[in-house]
Amino acid sequence: MKILVINGPNLNMLGIREPGIYGDQSYAALVRFVEDVCARQNVECECFQSNHEGDIVDKIQAAYGKVDGIVINPAAYTHTSVAILDALKAVSIPAVEVHLSDVSAREAFRHISYAGMACVKTYAGFGFDGYRMAIEYLAEHYGK
Ligand code: DQA
Repeated sequence: MKILVINGPNLNMLGIREPGIYGDQSYAALVRFVEDVCARQNVECECFQSNHEGDIVDKIQAAYGKVDGIVINPAAYTHTSVAILDALKAVSIPAVEVHLSDVSAREAFRHISYAGMACVKTYAGFGFDGYRMAIEYLAEHYGK
């Protein structure tokens, strides 16, 4: 099984940005964490981060026919991007939405998730562990 892990804008600033909300570990540490979880699940993985909406849309489109599952933290684009929602719907690859923080307990504008409407599951508020849960969910339900 191959999983694509997509992280959206400002997640490259993990460890620096608002550590009280997002923790003190870096994006590189998140990639190591994800790679470790995937290795234990016998899952091949690719991690991709971009601050640009169109690049994320391009990456989702390019995954068509090549990837068995997507883990996506669209970050701020969660709450604005119909384009990312449509890209996920277009490729029909099972996708799980992840947020480090509990978006439902934050500002009202973070309560809407467009990308989440195309996802089979959401994990929010579990920090890095949410990515583990998402990978395990995909491996269990869509693994081969
Ligand atoms: C986030 C939550 C979003 O509201 C925010 O814009 C982010 C990160 C999270 O992982 O908690 O950049 O997706």
